[in-house]
Amino acid sequence: MTGTGAFPETRALADVSSRRGGDRISLRVIILERMEENYGMFVWPCSIILAEYVWQQRSRFSGKNVVELGAGTSLPGLVAAKIGADVVLTDDFHKHEVLENIRRICNLNKLDCKIVGLTWGEWDASLFELQPHIILGADVLYDSTDFDDLFATVAFLLQNSRECVFITTYHNRSGHHLIEFLMVKWGLKCLKLLDGFSFIPAYKASSLQGNIQLVEIAIEEK
Ligand SMILES: C[S@@+](CC[C@H](N)C(=O)[O-])C[C@H]1O[C@@H](n2cnc3c(N)ncnc32)[C@H](O)[C@@H]1O
Repeated sequence: MTGTGAFPETRALADVSSRRGGDRISLRVIILERMEENYGMFVWPCSIILAEYVWQQRSRFSGKNVVELGAGTSLPGLVAAKIGADVVLTDDFHKHEVLENIRRICNLNKLDCKIVGLTWGEWDASLFELQPHIILGADVLYDSTDFDDLFATVAFLLQNSRECVFITTYHNRSGHHLIEFLMVKWGLKCLKLLDGFSFIPAYKASSLQGNIQLVEIAIEEK
């Protein structure tokens, strides 16, 4: 533990691993966290579940352009980078502390990801340069006042890069299925919907709580 003040900084190690034949293959990501009011400074359960999904689907990610929205401590994007994706990590343009933390985490992990301040619903030049094959977002659907801005950005990126898919994990805290309404509103369709606990290893599931879903979303072709 390092850092000064009310919110000490901690280093967390996040591992993903699988068995291939008789061998275990794995990778480790180092994360810097600070448990403070700023939601982007610590790892949320949705991020652990999305990172596990990226790892399990790693053949899809190798060599692909990946953009993570609302990346915070960026665990899913960092796993994607470690398995060979070309990754752009983004968070709110105004959250300098979060963006600086992402920079430090990339350095610690010796990863050369591009880091971009990208606020949902804002049309900066940097947004027009992004042509992802895959967009990631862990726990980016938590404040309903931001949903339309988030989906405006996601719909733009999906339109800008055909064949692109948005993979998001969200914590259904209200019990309402707002995401279905948003997909219809923004001309999107659901390709896959999974219970987040259906594919993670038991030792990870035991430390996580909540109703977490993973959904893959694409443009609804007319
Ligand atoms: C609940 S945190 C999730 C962080 C990380 N993805 C995770 O799961 O650990 C939500 C993230 O969205 C970012 N965020 C919130 N509002 C945003 C906005 N309007 N534009 C871009 N990012 C935003 C926050 O800074 C924060 O990093």
